[in-house]
Amino acid sequence: MTYAIAEHQAHSLFPDFVARRMDLHYVTRIAQLLGGEHPHAWQPTPANAVFLAGNDYLCLAGEPALVSAQVKALQHSQGEMLMSAVYLQEGSAQHRLERKLARFMGAEDGILAQSGWAANVGLVQTLAGPGIPVYLDMQAHASLWEGVQSAGALPVSFLHNDMEHLQKQLQRHGRGLIVVDALYSTNGSVAPLAELVEIAERSGCMLIVDESHSLGTHGPRGAGLVAALGLSDRVHFRTASLAKAFAGRAGFISCSSYFKGYFLSESRPAIFSSCLLGHELAWFDAAIDFIAAADDRRATLHAHARELREELSALGYNVSDGSEQIIALEPGPEPKTLALRKLLENHGVYGAMFCAPATPKNRSLVRLTLNSGLDRAQLARIIHACDEIRGQVGLENWSSTRRLRKLALV
Ligand SMILES: Cc1ncc(COP(=O)(O)O)c(C=O)c1O
Repeated sequence: MTYAIAEHQAHSLFPDFVARRMDLHYVTRIAQLLGGEHPHAWQPTPANAVFLAGNDYLCLAGEPALVSAQVKALQHSQGEMLMSAVYLQEGSAQHRLERKLARFMGAEDGILAQSGWAANVGLVQTLAGPGIPVYLDMQAHASLWEGVQSAGALPVSFLHNDMEHLQKQLQRHGRGLIVVDALYSTNGSVAPLAELVEIAERSGCMLIVDESHSLGTHGPRGAGLVAALGLSDRVHFRTASLAKAFAGRAGFISCSSYFKGYFLSESRPAIFSSCLLGHELAWFDAAIDFIAAADDRRATLHAHARELREELSALGYNVSDGSEQIIALEPGPEPKTLALRKLLENHGVYGAMFCAPATPKNRSLVRLTLNSGLDRAQLARIIHACDEIRGQVGLENWSSTRRLRKLALV
């Protein structure tokens, strides 16, 4: 798809202060930088395309047990309670599901939100406030940064997974919140959770861990990375998008029952936006049982991740930043990343282009997210595609390749 939006079009339809921003998108970025192509618009997809852009890690979409639970809920619906979750009564279906999901994660209680975004914004907003430092890993998800903004708190970033830098920042700014992802969404790197817990305890900070990409896929029965390390009682809050391994649309916060009561009177996304619907709850209810029993799918997913990472690094791709099912191929500047995405598509491999604001400006990348349903032929196809295009994409000169070479020299 090409975008040929004339400058004068924006200027005739929108006031200057909006038109200038739209120009940055349509003119500076799409037309001038990317030659008229949108970074996220795929080329037509053949029937046998290998899709590595979704987050349904355990392939739950269409799973008969889940679909039938949802259909049954729709058929027996007696009229939905379309209202804010603050009005839900004790013992409601949502509250029962919240307890079930909390048990699954080894937590006392929990809160369902409309999305992972709403969970993170709402949680940070209820904990932090003006003058309170919130320490965020530079790669922490955008929704966590948004929560800091919404709280009017002080964002203090620390270098990705760099515990020395975090401690330096703590010494400068004092007690507050520490906010990380358990498994980072752009490159599949894992947070040093045990160290983070110790630092939080020593410094009197509260710790929030976003498990969006590890809940369901990691830990005992899919309970996540915090549970895998036996840290469930020492991490104050875990959040998750249920639009990944749980393949639905919601978010979750693990917490104490005492905190939950406060949260529902204080979190703006909880108060001013309506609760989930019955059939959505039914999906997640069935999904918890399915996921808890899905050790085979988890093992397959992890084996795929190990294999692809090994093969890609043997081909010279720098995938050393991460270790799990999210793999970043990182050319750097957007035009190079767009070229990479399209060349992969020519080989039938469809990844997702990540660029600003999801990455720093010249650190754009193609993200390949794996799932447990990939078969041997598809894995071979991905490797073959990455092998074939190395010369065409100039892999040797990518900034990530240069970083790898530097590391090898140290
Ligand atoms: C780490 C992380 N947290 C939160 C979210 C937001 O989740 P949702 O899509 O459910 O709003 C995402 C989704 O992109 C994510 O990757």
